[in-house]
Amino acid sequence: MIRFGFNQFGDAHVFEAITADRPTPKPGQVLLQVLGFGMNPYDVTLRTGAQAEMRPMTFPIVPGTDVVGRVVELGEGVTDFAEGDIVMNYRPIGGYSEYVVASTSKIYKKPTALSYLDAATLPQVGITAYNILHYLLDAQAGETIAIEGAAGGVGSVLVQLAKFMKLNVIATASSQHDTELRQLGADQIGAYDKEDVGAKFENQADYVVNAVHNGADHGAGVAMVKPTGKYVSVAYQTPDLSTKPNVSFAQVGPSKDYSTHDAFAFLVDAAVKWGLTVRVAQSFPFTVEGVISAQEALENHPDGKIVVMQDKHVIKPVRKDVNHL
Ligand SMILES: NC(=O)c1ccc[n+]([C@@H]2O[C@H](COP(=O)([O-])OP(=O)(O)OC[C@H]3O[C@@H](n4cnc5c(N)ncnc54)[C@H](OP(=O)(O)O)[C@@H]3O)[C@@H](O)[C@H]2O)c1
Repeated sequence: MIRFGFNQFGDAHVFEAITADRPTPKPGQVLLQVLGFGMNPYDVTLRTGAQAEMRPMTFPIVPGTDVVGRVVELGEGVTDFAEGDIVMNYRPIGGYSEYVVASTSKIYKKPTALSYLDAATLPQVGITAYNILHYLLDAQAGETIAIEGAAGGVGSVLVQLAKFMKLNVIATASSQHDTELRQLGADQIGAYDKEDVGAKFENQADYVVNAVHNGADHGAGVAMVKPTGKYVSVAYQTPDLSTKPNVSFAQVGPSKDYSTHDAFAFLVDAAVKWGLTVRVAQSFPFTVEGVISAQEALENHPDGKIVVMQDKHVIKPVRKDVNHL
């Protein structure tokens, strides 16, 4: 089988097709034929070596936390899945591959309510959003949450989930995303490339979630949060809360605080009952050339998630300058 990985750090062209033996599922695991895998900013940090000091790994490194796949073999003792099941998988690494093994606690059956593209891209951003919701469990209907980077992977899922919780949502993003934010259900919108969103929504948010790439919000989140509110960041960054010392702060990721199974169950419920979707920008072919192009697209500030799919699932981007009637 083929895996897409690299033997040195660098730009997207370090990716190569690496031949490997097909893995065998251990007891409690299944073998998945990967139908598609989603990409995340984290994968780029693996490729560039930005994580090398914090998380040393041996080459070849094969990224990939998000997979949709078909169960093709059952390990000993597996009774709750059958060959042919289509499942989502959230994993630490290794998803850019034709086959992966996965513990049954890390997979969940794909409902028909989620497309294959959604299922390939939901795991990391969805589980992160789920963990944020747990931190905000005391949030009451009618309270206000400000979501920065609301058109991004984590942000756009969170806007939908916050509306399901009947929160008042302030969504901030660059101005090109205005329509999408309204379609996601945002109540108020701030365009941080056109206006000072910190001043516009000063002290209005009971909760602020900073989901901007690398947490770069230039202080807007601190301005928006109420003096006794909560501030959550998904990036590895700590805000300067010296002007609001009573604001509580937490950094939240797709950690092990809550089980992957419970997170998937919640997200699938949200998809089936409420129509939760993922914004997919573009899918690429399941080839090394496809992976290189996908990584380049990922670094080019895409308008949604980037995914690599087996042949019949590849979609082309819609040209923005064409009026589709
Ligand atoms: N701690 C964890 O385990 C964990 C888990 C998931 C994500 N994260 C981190 O959380 C952040 C958000 O993740 P995500 O997957 O939602 O990211 P994303 O979709 O790539 O980015 C979120 C938003 O950031 C804004 N942005 C500003 N400058 C950007 C730039 N130079 N390149 C790309 N986007 C830029 C974009 O909004 P506009 O177009 O509106 O400007 C984008 O929609 C990332 O830093 C990611 O690494 C951490």
